[in-house]
Amino acid sequence: MNLHRSGMNERKILVTSALPYANGSIHLGHLVEYIQTDIWVRFQKMRGHTVYYVCADDTHGTPIMLRAEKEGITPESLIARVHQEHLKDFTGFHIQFDNYYSTHSAETRFFSEDIYHKLKNAGLISVRAIEQLYDPVKNMFLPDRFVKGECPKCGAKDQYGDSCEVCGAAYAPTELKNPYSSVSGAKPIQKSSEHYFFNLSDPRCADFLRRWTRESDHLQPEAANKMREWLGEAGENKLSDWDISRDAPYFGFEIPDAPGKYFYVWLDAPIGYMGSFKKFCEQKRIDFDQFWQKNATTELYHFIGKDILYFHALFWPAMLENSGYRTPTKIFAHGFLTVNGEKMSKSRGTFITAESYLQQQLNPEWLRYYYAAKLNSTMEDIDLNLDDFIARVNSDLIGKFVNIASRCAGFITKRFDGKLVAGAQYQQLRAIIDEHFANWRPELIEKAFEEREYAAAIRQIMKFADEANEVIHQLAPWEMAKKPNQEEELHRACSLGIQLFYLLSCYLKPVIPGTVEKIEQFLNTQPLAWPVLTESQSVSHLLLPAGHAINAYQHLMTRIDAKQIDALISANQQSLLANDKANDLKQNNQSAQAQQNVAPIAETITIDDFGKIDLRVARIAHAEQVVGAEKLLKLTLDIGSEQRTVFAGIKSAYDPEQLKGRLTVMVANLAPRQMKFGLSEGMVLAAGGSNPGELFILSPDSGAQPGMRIK
Ligand code: 2FM
Ligand code: ZN
Repeated sequence: MNLHRSGMNERKILVTSALPYANGSIHLGHLVEYIQTDIWVRFQKMRGHTVYYVCADDTHGTPIMLRAEKEGITPESLIARVHQEHLKDFTGFHIQFDNYYSTHSAETRFFSEDIYHKLKNAGLISVRAIEQLYDPVKNMFLPDRFVKGECPKCGAKDQYGDSCEVCGAAYAPTELKNPYSSVSGAKPIQKSSEHYFFNLSDPRCADFLRRWTRESDHLQPEAANKMREWLGEAGENKLSDWDISRDAPYFGFEIPDAPGKYFYVWLDAPIGYMGSFKKFCEQKRIDFDQFWQKNATTELYHFIGKDILYFHALFWPAMLENSGYRTPTKIFAHGFLTVNGEKMSKSRGTFITAESYLQQQLNPEWLRYYYAAKLNSTMEDIDLNLDDFIARVNSDLIGKFVNIASRCAGFITKRFDGKLVAGAQYQQLRAIIDEHFANWRPELIEKAFEEREYAAAIRQIMKFADEANEVIHQLAPWEMAKKPNQEEELHRACSLGIQLFYLLSCYLKPVIPGTVEKIEQFLNTQPLAWPVLTESQSVSHLLLPAGHAINAYQHLMTRIDAKQIDALISANQQSLLANDKANDLKQNNQSAQAQQNVAPIAETITIDDFGKIDLRVARIAHAEQVVGAEKLLKLTLDIGSEQRTVFAGIKSAYDPEQLKGRLTVMVANLAPRQMKFGLSEGMVLAAGGSNPGELFILSPDSGAQPGMRIK
C-alpha cells in the first residue's frame, strides 16, 4: 500500500472496545484499551476514512443482579446509574464513541434471539442436564466466583471456586474443601438442571476456526498461536461445547421457549457490539447490513484485553459464521496494566479510578500521551511508572512540544500583527525546512499509527520535535528580538517555529485531541486533518499557507507536579480502603449471620429412626386466628383420609387467609397434645431463623396430593 496516498481510498471501518461491566468503576487498567482504541479511531477519522466507534455497558449476569439486590435497587436502576458514571469517565478522558449503549436493549435482545435461532436451526444447539453447586438458602445456582472455600492444593482459606490466589492452582468449585456460598454463607449442594449449549465441538466449528486462524492474519501472532493450542490439529477434537444458559434467578434475556432459562452474559455481550451499532444506524440512517452481512467488504475491528481472547477469537467468530453474519476483520488484544511494575493494588493506592484521576484535576491527556508512548501492537503488559510518567510528560509534552509555541507565538502577535511570513520570506522558510528535514519521513508516523505501534509513532514525533527545537535553538529568535535590524529574521524564525508546531500538532492530535482543539483555536485553523504528502512532495508542502494569521497564544498545558501524583495515590488509598472496610464488615456480618442461621447439625440417626416419622402432604383446608394466643394459628389439615386440627406457631409470619388451600407437610404420627386452646393433632413443618417473621412453612412440589407419604 502506498501510505502517501492511503487517505484517498476511503475505507469504511467499524471499531469496538470491550464492553465494561455495569457494576464497577472505570479504572486506569480499563483506560489502556479505550485510549488505545480511541487513538486509532481518531487517527483513521483524521485521514478521512468513515469510521464508527461503538461500545456499551455489559449489563447482564449474576454479579450485577446481586449488586443491585445489595443496594436495594432494581438491576435496571443500577445499570442506568452506572451508565451515566461510565459515560462521564469516558468523556473526561476524551474517549469519543459514536454510540455508547447498553446490552440491556431491544436491539441486543433481537440479535441474541436471532443468532440463537439460526444456530439452533443449523443443529448447533443442544440441551442436557448438568450438576452445579447450588445455594440452598438463596435458592440459586452459584457461579464459580460465588463459591469460596479452602484451596484443595495448598489449603489456603477463602479462595474462589475456580482458582487459588495463594498458590495459583486452578480447579473446579466442587473440589474446594469446606465450600460456602459467598452470597448467603450456606454450604452449597449439588443440583442438576438443564443447560443449553452451543455445539462448539461440532466439526463445522473447529474446521471453520482453523481456517479462520490460518488466513488473513485476523489475529496477532501470539493470539494465533494460542488459537492453534486451543484448536489442536485437524481431526483432533479439543473444543468443548459452550454452556450458554443460566437458570433463574438471573438478570438477562430469557431464552425463547425456555422459561426460567437465560442467555449467559457472555452470549449477549459481544452481540452488544451489533446492538449498539444497530441503534446508531437507526439514528443516523446508516446501512447496518453493509457492516454485518456475510462477505461484507467493510472492516470490523475488536480491541480487547488478552484475558478475553477466548471469547472473541473462538466463540464469537464461530457464532457469527454459523448464523449468517460476517466475522471480524481483526481482533486486537492488548496486555494488562501494571503500576510501578506491580499489579494495581488497593492498599498501595495504585488501583486508580478514572473518576479520582479527574477529580484530582490531573490532565487526562497526560495519561493518553504516556500510554501512547508505551503501547505497541503486541499483547505485552504495559507499565505505568509514576516517576517516569511525570518525567516523560513534562519533558516531551511541555519541554519539547508546547514550548515551541510558547516561545514563538508572542513575537508573532506583538511584532507582526499575528501573521506568519508571506511572499519571498515564506519561500525562504520553506527552503530552510526542506533543508533541515530532508530525511524526515512522516509516512513512518502514519504507518506506526496504522499498525498500532504507538510507541514507535511517538518516538518519530518526538524526534521531529527534537529537530524542530534544535533549529529554533540555533536561530535563537529571542536573541534576534533584542536587535533592531533583525525583524525579518525574527519573523521567519518565529513563523518557522509555529509552522513546525502546527505539523507536530497534526501528528499528536489522535493522542491529545483536547489540547489540539485549543491549538486549532490558537492557530486559527479548521480542525486539523492528517497531513498527506504525495511522493514528489517535500515536508514544506504540508505547512499553513503564506501569511496565515494566528490568534494570541493561550495557555495549552501545565507540567505535572509530583505532589499531584502523591495526592492521587493517597486519595485512592483512602477511598478504596474505606470501601473495603465497609464491604468486609458487611460480608463478615452477612456470613456470621448466615452461619448463625445454620444451626449445628443434630446427632446422627439411622434410617429406621427416620422411618418412624410419618410425614404427609397436607392441604390447609382452613386457617384462623386463635383468640388470646400470641403465636398460634389454628389450622385444619386435610390428609386425604381424614382432617386434623393443628395449632401452629406461625402467626408472626402468615395471615390465615394466605394459607387457605395451600399444600404443606405435616408430621402425622406425632402424639396428640392438649393445649390451652384445644387438642393439636400433629405438627406442620417450617424452617425458621431466629428473627421474628423469619418462618417458612414447607410446600411440596406441584402435583403432590394430600395424604402422600414423604420418604
Ligand atoms: O471482561 C469484561 O469486562 C467483559 N465485560 C467484556 C465484554 S466484551 C464484549 F464481548 F462484550
Ligand atoms: Zn492454593
